[in-house]
Amino acid sequence: KIPIIIDTDPGTDDTTAILMCLACEKFDTRAITSVGGNVGIEKTSNNARKIVELSGKDVKVAIGVKNPIVRKIVNAEFVHGVSGLGNITLPEPVMPYYEKDAIDTIYEEALAADGRLKILALGPLTNIAVALLKYPQLKKMIDSIVFMGGAVNLGNATPAAEFNIYADPEAAKIVFDSGIDLVMVGLDVTHETIVTKEQNKRIHQYNNKVAKVVAKLIDYTIDRESPYNPNGGVMHDPLAAATLIDSSVLETEDYYVDVELKSDITRGKTVTDVFRVTDNKPNIHVGVKSDNEKFLEILESMISKYE
Ligand code: BDR
Ligand code: CA
Repeated sequence: KIPIIIDTDPGTDDTTAILMCLACEKFDTRAITSVGGNVGIEKTSNNARKIVELSGKDVKVAIGVKNPIVRKIVNAEFVHGVSGLGNITLPEPVMPYYEKDAIDTIYEEALAADGRLKILALGPLTNIAVALLKYPQLKKMIDSIVFMGGAVNLGNATPAAEFNIYADPEAAKIVFDSGIDLVMVGLDVTHETIVTKEQNKRIHQYNNKVAKVVAKLIDYTIDRESPYNPNGGVMHDPLAAATLIDSSVLETEDYYVDVELKSDITRGKTVTDVFRVTDNKPNIHVGVKSDNEKFLEILESMISKYE
C-alpha cells in the first residue's frame, strides 16, 4: 500500500476528500495533519478527529501550525460555516490526538516510508513549509505532493489568488521551490469539476452514514454557491483526492510557477509561465483539464464502500 498523509483544514470539501482517501484500499493513510485555514486550528483539528471517527478507520490526527508563516490569519468561515463543517453536526470525538505535532509527524512518517510517502495537501501549505524549514533533508524524502491550491487564471480569495495560497503565500513559495515532485490542482480545474443536485441524489441513496454526510455537504456547497456556480457544486479538495486515487482524472502540463509575495493586490497569485517566457525550469505539474465523469465515478466508488 502507498503510505499517505492528508494535510488539511476541514472544511466542508476537505471532509469529502478525506473520506474518499480513507476508503481507498490503495492507501495506507498514516496520519491526518491539521492546519489552520478555513477555520482556526482548534476547529480544523477537532473536525479531523470527527471525520476519522465517522469513517470508522484507525488513523492518527496530529495538530499542526496555527498561524501562517508571516501573514495574519485569514479564514473562510463565510464558505464553510462557523464550525467548518457547513450545516452538518458530527458527534464530539473521543479519540486522543497523536502525541507528536504535525511537523514531527510528517518527518517521522517520511522517514518510516523510505521515500514512498505521498502527501495530499488540502489547505494552506504552512505545515509542509515549516516541516521543510525544520528538517531540510525532508525534501529528498517525500515521493510527491498533490495539493489543492492556486490557479493559472482565477482567484477566489481575491480576484488574483486562490484561498489556500493567499492564506500563506510564503509557505507556498517554500514548497514550490523545494524540488519535491508537485501536482497543482488549482481553480482552473476544480471549477470544471462539479456535482449537480441530480447527480448528488445517487450519493444520498447509498445506505451508509458516510454517504449521508457527504451528500449533505455537497448539497450545502451547491446551495451556497448557486449565485456564482449555477451549474452545481465545485469540488476543490475532492478533485485533489481523486487525482491521488487515480491520476488519469487530471491532465497536467509542466510549468514554472512562482508565488506573488510583495503586492497587496495580487498577493498569493500563482504566477504560471505558460508561454515559457523565462528560463526557469518547470517546478510543478499543473492541472489543466479534469474529467468530470471520471471524477464522479471515483467519488461514488469510494463513498459507496462504507458500511
Ligand atoms: C480551497 O479553499 C478552501 O476553502 C477549500 O477547502 C479548498 O481547499 C479552495 O480555494
Ligand atoms: Ca481545504
